[in-house]
Amino acid sequence: MTSRRIVLSRSAALIGAASTGLLLPEIARAQSGKVRVGLMLPYTGTFAQLGVAIENGVRMAIDERGGKLGGRDIEWFKVDDESDPSKGVENASKLVQRDKVDVLIGTVHSGVQMGIQKVARDSGVLSLIPNAGVLAATRSLCAPNVFRTSFTNSQPTLALGKAMVDRGHKKAVWITWKYAAGNEAFEGFKESYTAAGGTIVKELGLPFPNVEFQALLTEIASLNPDAVACFFAGGGAAKFIRDYAAAGLKGKIPLYGSGFLTEGVLDAAGPAAEGIITTMHYSDSLDTPRNKAFRLAYAKTFRSQPDVYAVQGYDTGLLLSQGAAAVKGDLSAKPALYKALESAVIDSPRGKWTMSKSHNPIQDIYLRQVENKENKVIGIAAKALADSGAGCKMA
Ligand code: PHB
Repeated sequence: MTSRRIVLSRSAALIGAASTGLLLPEIARAQSGKVRVGLMLPYTGTFAQLGVAIENGVRMAIDERGGKLGGRDIEWFKVDDESDPSKGVENASKLVQRDKVDVLIGTVHSGVQMGIQKVARDSGVLSLIPNAGVLAATRSLCAPNVFRTSFTNSQPTLALGKAMVDRGHKKAVWITWKYAAGNEAFEGFKESYTAAGGTIVKELGLPFPNVEFQALLTEIASLNPDAVACFFAGGGAAKFIRDYAAAGLKGKIPLYGSGFLTEGVLDAAGPAAEGIITTMHYSDSLDTPRNKAFRLAYAKTFRSQPDVYAVQGYDTGLLLSQGAAAVKGDLSAKPALYKALESAVIDSPRGKWTMSKSHNPIQDIYLRQVENKENKVIGIAAKALADSGAGCKMA
């Protein structure tokens, strides 16, 4: 890859380095010719499986396009963020300062994302968010170098309230982990459920990542609402679904959720998950050639079924490939790179989507029901739903 632009920008760097005596690692890096891609994901803890699915998706999209970015080979760097917000800044800095990545892909947990967001804003490194839905990342703290390929935390639940009221459930209990993702999912639920005429009789919570649900399930039984709505994900979601059934609530008080509740957990949750209705920007059963080809290829490569996290990782790989191709591999050509990312149309297994002005997907939200260990589409809960981007100065 020796485009004129890269040759020119390298000689400019050499002149700069000669005059300042600094930047030697920068030159070595440019000469190595590889794009440095950092993955900051949870590989341990309740979200471990989510991190693996995202990485699989990213690699699959890039491998399908020849394993290069804009014609350049890739060097990968990985950090296990453990879904620990207290280490967010430190872990992101390892990738940006120590490993000098050109792009940081991460992460799953909203609290950890706030650390990445700080490092991304301070350093200007390209930051692609393959899951974490924290509102601030594409609202008040939005940035030209930060792009999300997943959702905002309130996006799926904004489509949930009406679906529940339409089914006759007028009084609901909400339950979640009390941290940004759960609290912001509640914001979406509250808005949509009350607008549709529903009443939230109680808001219950426990700290992330606790899974001692017993006392809360006893409280739900005594409140006896028409339905329960929740946000849980990963290993904790599988346990919540099983405990809900074991407490005798399944079949008595219908369980609804933000779709993460039933993503990647259907084997672990077993029969207890059957019948659960959720809203989400993806469904296993989307009957499109694009989704079918993706699912087949993923299952062949990784010997497991893809879920929404795999799709989000895959779309991150697609976005990065498209952006890198537009600048012929020169990720330092920032205005052109950002323009390409902003105007990308992602041909995703979830359906085609585009970026909002604040860099978050504008996407359809499906109504799904678990049937035979699959999230089956039973309707479209919202068409081309965009997050408000409130407070984002770019929007
Ligand atoms: C988040 O913390 O933003 C988060 C984590 C797991 C999910 C969804 C959102 O499945």
